[in-house]
Amino acid sequence: MVLIDGKKTSEILQSEIAEEVVKIKFLGGKIPHLAAVLVGHDGGSETYVAAKVKACERVGFKSTLIRFEDNVTEEELLKCVAKLNNDTDLDGFIVQLPLPKHISEEKIVESINPRKDVDGFHPVNVGRMVAGVPAFISATPFGIMELIKRYKIETSGKNCVVIGRSNIVGRPMSILLSQKGIDCTVTLCHSRTKNLKAICAEADIIVAALGMAEFLTGDMVKEGAVVIDVGITRIKSDKTKSGWKLLGDVKFEEVAPKCSYITPVPGGVGPMTIASLLYNTLLSSKKEIYK
Ligand code: GUN
Repeated sequence: MVLIDGKKTSEILQSEIAEEVVKIKFLGGKIPHLAAVLVGHDGGSETYVAAKVKACERVGFKSTLIRFEDNVTEEELLKCVAKLNNDTDLDGFIVQLPLPKHISEEKIVESINPRKDVDGFHPVNVGRMVAGVPAFISATPFGIMELIKRYKIETSGKNCVVIGRSNIVGRPMSILLSQKGIDCTVTLCHSRTKNLKAICAEADIIVAALGMAEFLTGDMVKEGAVVIDVGITRIKSDKTKSGWKLLGDVKFEEVAPKCSYITPVPGGVGPMTIASLLYNTLLSSKKEIYK
């Protein structure tokens, strides 16, 4: 069994990006610039955005953080997005989700210029991904595809089961795994799927992205399968210093011994997401998606 090291792979990807920035600087080019918009003081969002800004510094990008209080109006936020859309120094920006209930996330995401949508959430980028033309791919699916490629996991003709049909993970994963050159036969399962256990037992590759701690058990997985665990459920624990423990969607102790490859939680898919965002920003600055 090979443990897929997302932390190490993310560090490698970030050092590759940093090397590119050094080259850009040497040649007198424009330093990639990412902005993040953060509304309110949600603990999770604060942590994620701080990590994104820190990662920008690490690879040599310019970064800008724009903060609003919880009571910001939708109109004010739309104005901010319009300003960022027109800022010629910015290569990309993200509006951290979730947003307060009085603001339509759909409206905000759709107001972002797709050419600067390095989160890959805009319907134009989703549509381009489905059509198989260059697009900004959202961070988690991009990170998973990168792990599959870098670990040289065979995908052609393999039966792949994706559990969970969310817009940010399950559905895009089902598209990316079935695209030309990857060539998996994909089954997308969800809460109404019948005989899930039997479907999983036939899978060469399983992507567990349903958001239920330790859902995938040993009896659902065949010998030699590749298992990608996207779950992150935080539970209280008296065994850790922080008092919290992260659980994936996979019952690791049961599933891992049967696998050819498996991602752990933490240290698997999670660390790849920030590197993916930086990569999209670099692609944007090099005009490699929208030429
Ligand atoms: N909230 C949780 N994950 C993400 C992400 O990848 N991008 C944005 N904008 N918000 C998030």
